Amino acid sequence: MPYESILVETSDAVATVTVNRPEKLNALNATVRRELVEALDGLAADDDIRAVLLIGAGDKAFVAGADVAEFAARTPLEQRDVIAGRRVYDAAAAFPKPLIAVIRGYCLGGGCELALACDLRVAGRSARFGQPEIRLGLVPGGGGTQRLARLVGYGQALRLAVTGDFIDAEDAYRIGLVEFLVDDDRAYETAREIARRMTRWSPVALRLAKEAVQAALETPLSAGLRLERELFLTAFASEDGREGVRAFMEKREPRFTGR
Ligand code: COA
Repeated sequence: MPYESILVETSDAVATVTVNRPEKLNALNATVRRELVEALDGLAADDDIRAVLLIGAGDKAFVAGADVAEFAARTPLEQRDVIAGRRVYDAAAAFPKPLIAVIRGYCLGGGCELALACDLRVAGRSARFGQPEIRLGLVPGGGGTQRLARLVGYGQALRLAVTGDFIDAEDAYRIGLVEFLVDDDRAYETAREIARRMTRWSPVALRLAKEAVQAALETPLSAGLRLERELFLTAFASEDGREGVRAFMEKREPRFTGR
């Protein structure tokens, strides 16, 4: 399906979704957000796709935030309606397949929140992260206080939220905001290699693993361990779970089908 402000390409079971507004540093306007949600829904339903990469066009930015020009044009009530709908951050977090952000240049505000909603983050050395909403008299509204605090801890999250400072890729890696740090010209390929490795595994198990680890952020330990046991048994009962164990015993490569 042709989109106005994003690109979707697929190759070898991995899709690449590109936010394509480089002239505005890929800022998230209503069109980008709607198209990203639509694209994620389509890729979720496509059995040929096993993992997805999310990247910004050009080398200046992953995404430099929500589109501030749209903020300026909206009444508070209009803004309330916008954020009451299904949000791109939630669509990314609930996406049932591995979703990897590839980050070069600015990754700010809503861009940082979008990266936080992905499963893994691969940063090039040019990446710059921040929650600059405070500079606008605002606060993060797409997970930049909640998901960020869970990923990097209270102190570092608060520091970004109240200073509005940008941090570089080395710092982001040091505090755990990104899981991989590479040279810019290796960022996309590195993410693709990670995605390709995961396409070898059972889609059922990948989905359950994501659900289980996400639950760790929301549940007390005893409830989380109970859920983990249930998800383990679901994987155990899946065709892929049987196939994986059988293939190990028969000393051959497993053939996972996603059932
Ligand atoms: N919303 C809308 N437009 C944005 C944008 C955003 N979040 N971020 C960048 N742009 C636009 C700029 O307005 C400019 O458009 P123009 O050429 O039509 O004037 C274009 O993208 C290039 O940005 P520019 O500011 O000229 O680049 P720079 O290299 O001088 O500065 C930043 C880069 C990221 C420091 C600066 O663009 C910035 O502070 N952006 C806003 C970041 C922000 O506050 N994000 C959170 C919003 S809640």
